[in-house]
Amino acid sequence: MALTIGVVGATGAVGRKMIDVLGERMLIDVSLRFFASKKSAGSFLEYRGKKIIVEELTEEVMKEKYDYLIFSAGSSVSKKYAPIAKDAGNTIIDNSSYWRMEKNIPLVVPEVNAHVLEDYKGIVANPNCSTIQMLVVLAPLHRKYRMKRLVVSTYQAVSGSGQAAIEELENQLIDDNHPNKVYTKKIAGNCIPHIDVFCENGFSKEELKIVYETHKILEDNTIEINATAVRVPVYSGHSESVYIEFDNEVDKECVTKTLSKSPGIVVIDDLSKNQYPTPLEIADTDSTYVGRIRSDLYNKKAISLWIVADNLRKGAATNAVQIIEAMENIKKKENNYV
Ligand code: A2P
Repeated sequence: MALTIGVVGATGAVGRKMIDVLGERMLIDVSLRFFASKKSAGSFLEYRGKKIIVEELTEEVMKEKYDYLIFSAGSSVSKKYAPIAKDAGNTIIDNSSYWRMEKNIPLVVPEVNAHVLEDYKGIVANPNCSTIQMLVVLAPLHRKYRMKRLVVSTYQAVSGSGQAAIEELENQLIDDNHPNKVYTKKIAGNCIPHIDVFCENGFSKEELKIVYETHKILEDNTIEINATAVRVPVYSGHSESVYIEFDNEVDKECVTKTLSKSPGIVVIDDLSKNQYPTPLEIADTDSTYVGRIRSDLYNKKAISLWIVADNLRKGAATNAVQIIEAMENIKKKENNYV
């Protein structure tokens, strides 16, 4: 039987990627419905070569029955419409940050904590893009050596701020005087250490999302995390430089071996051939890439590494579709068991 899936925010940068990823990954038939604001209603988007009309998002359409609704239209839309859809008995995969830290809402990176989806129906939160790719790599290391402290700096692509930000970079690259609308400063030729709003403690909200989402997903509030989130003039693909101190001694070979065997990870790390992952080279793929793995010069319990993933795919759309795959697998197991 076909799955009915609704995509809310289908016309946006993540929404469009969601449609591509569903088309590539879904093994069973999917009956899709697309929702966006009134201004896009009546336009068409393609799924597997077939044109599907975009409908206006309303309370009424959210009360209808879907197997899954995927939301990527921002926090205010998720806040208002996700509870309406949930009360109608639907399961929602929400890309916004609105529900992520709610106690009873699972926050899921399928390679790391798919178990929290067992027996669950309702709103499921898709973590922040930087958290997802970092945890695909760090969770297997945490299980093996236990992380004590980590320091991460991110290099985040403009596509993470939506379609308007992609256009702002494109325009500023050809017109020096194109105004800054999405960002506080010019993004072309620049690096901006400011993602989301600043909080009283001097960290940006994006940096604190990395801290608290990591604690929730790994179910460990004792890990000391210090993050600096930076927007860079890259269209697609977030990169992260991560330094980790463990409870136990680690060596580079064991870390590389552990990561090579872990799900969702591709290790690219051959310095003799200048092999390490970069956002341009891994664009439009679903894995998380790691390289530049090196032991600390002074501390036998610490390593540094470099993590890259496509932020619109693994950092958003692919992770959401993997959550659907995980929930479908759980249902299949339950049915076989009965
Ligand atoms: P629309 O294209 O009609 O404005 P992005 O993050 O790339 O800017 O995309 C945001 C997505 O969320 C778009 O699909 C946009 O639709 C949708 N969206 C934004 N606000 C609303 C709203 N109030 N109701 C429904 N969809 C919305």
